[in-house]
Amino acid sequence: MPDRTGGAVVTAAAPGDRERTAERLLRSTASRSYDPDIDIDWSAPLADGKGFMLAHRCSLHGTQLWEGLSPQQRIELGKHEIASIACTGIWLEFVLLRLLAKVAYEGDPASRHVQYALAEMAEECRHSTMFARLVERLGVPFYHPPATLHALGRLLPAIARGPALWGAVLLGEELTDRIQREQVDDETIQPLIRMVNRIHILEEARHIGFARAELTRTAAAVPRAELPYHRAVLGRVGFLIARNLIRPGVYQAVGLDPRAARRAALANPYHQQTIRFSGEKVMAFLGDAGMVGPPVTHLWRRSFLLG
Ligand SMILES: [Fe+2]
Ligand SMILES: [Fe+2]
Repeated sequence: MPDRTGGAVVTAAAPGDRERTAERLLRSTASRSYDPDIDIDWSAPLADGKGFMLAHRCSLHGTQLWEGLSPQQRIELGKHEIASIACTGIWLEFVLLRLLAKVAYEGDPASRHVQYALAEMAEECRHSTMFARLVERLGVPFYHPPATLHALGRLLPAIARGPALWGAVLLGEELTDRIQREQVDDETIQPLIRMVNRIHILEEARHIGFARAELTRTAAAVPRAELPYHRAVLGRVGFLIARNLIRPGVYQAVGLDPRAARRAALANPYHQQTIRFSGEKVMAFLGDAGMVGPPVTHLWRRSFLLG
């Protein structure tokens, strides 16, 4: 039965559909998963002359600061930016693990959807280790999230439920997924980066399918009066992720002042377009589900996720 929630029509999946979706995803997990410890040759040398990130996705691309960098410095900056995204990815996965643990804790372990949540947690554990080993292999610093972000990540599992919970999961997964998909088949990118992306994309496709179905199901049951709460949580989550994908410390690696370079990146139309590109699909989905809008439309715009 369709339900109108804040101007958007969302259709709730029947309980049977929820179990069938989880059953299908469990079968897919059993037949196709990776173990990055085994499936990646961590001792292989990095390829000469290949980049770590597509140049037009670097946060300074097109700025005066970018024009002042040598080709080698541009590759070096891309290496640090991809490592920064991986480090923020680990933070996101730690938060996702706690959100999924909440779903499992409050659900029935005999149900397929709780069993799928557990299967997804197992994959996220392997992803976090994979990203940490990637950063180590690249020989760059670990770009830890700032203390406030760390604290907010601790808070989110306590305050998020229903569409706020599943929307936060989707923002965490889809923003990085879009960037990874764009470079996975690009021959100019390091084979190690492409393999990490390939593993992550394959397994995240299941996670995203699960979270989208759960968001649609839970959004249909949200009373109109609670809609601003879910939107406010998601607007803040989206803003914080978008602002923290590239940590300012990356600019030090190429001799730039982190504050000035950060300011240049935030004012850079190419960087703003990269953020918009990374969020294009998830924003369309969240918008259709009625999860984007007042009282936090300004935050979505400031994050560059909304044009
Ligand atoms: Fe993941
Ligand atoms: Fe995931």
